[in-house]
Amino acid sequence: MRFPSYGAAGVLSLCLLSSSALANSGGMTGYSGKTSQTCTMCHSGGTAPTVEISGPTSLEAGATGQYTLIIRGPGQKGGFNVAVDNTAASLEAGEGSKKVSGELTHSAPKSASAGEVRFPFTLVAPQSAGTVKIFGAGNSVNGDNNITLDGVATTTASVTITGGAGNGDNDDEGGCSSTGGSPVMLLSLIAGGMTLLRRRRN
Ligand code: HEC
Repeated sequence: MRFPSYGAAGVLSLCLLSSSALANSGGMTGYSGKTSQTCTMCHSGGTAPTVEISGPTSLEAGATGQYTLIIRGPGQKGGFNVAVDNTAASLEAGEGSKKVSGELTHSAPKSASAGEVRFPFTLVAPQSAGTVKIFGAGNSVNGDNNITLDGVATTTASVTITGGAGNGDNDDEGGCSSTGGSPVMLLSLIAGGMTLLRRRRN
């Protein structure tokens, strides 16, 4: 009869542990919208803002571009998370934000000014040509230090990387499909050969 109460205590302390680990007004990564998860996992009840990533749509290989994630909404404050899909590109935090696991997020909820919260950041382009997709989530919050009455929106921006040593945009993908192709060809040749052999024997 004692087990259920121990169980309940265990579950309760686990909940407390996980909520203190997750509760984080000082920034969140992994919720930019790059995966299907975004801040709406926890925050809701407010009017969704519009979120925009402004900055150059093309960069030279290896060049550095200045970008800003802009949250326009009714919230008193805002927070954000930005990530990229290209491991050869790197993000650097601007004023009011920090880099965590290669992604950027706010250091603390930032006050809105004239209906906007702006988070500047830097993108360092890869050394070879291609594309970098930037994923951004913006949370327009009411400033009550809670997850209620906050609105979230996500956006993406595509940056074309020009020039650089690589120069062949689709080298990677082409290489993949041709190496994928040859074993299949080999297998079907072997299979074909075996059927021929069997036929001859019969
Ligand atoms: C796993 C749950 C969870 C997720 C996901 C989450 N948050 Fe939060 N957030 C919280 C909690 C809980 C609080 C309440 C304050 C605290 O405990 O730090 C909070 C508070 C905040 C606040 C202050 C809110 C206010 O009204 O004062 C901001 C800003 C914020 N989060 C931004 C974000 C952003 C931006 C994202 C997505 C990139 C995000 N959060 C994703 C749990 C979450």
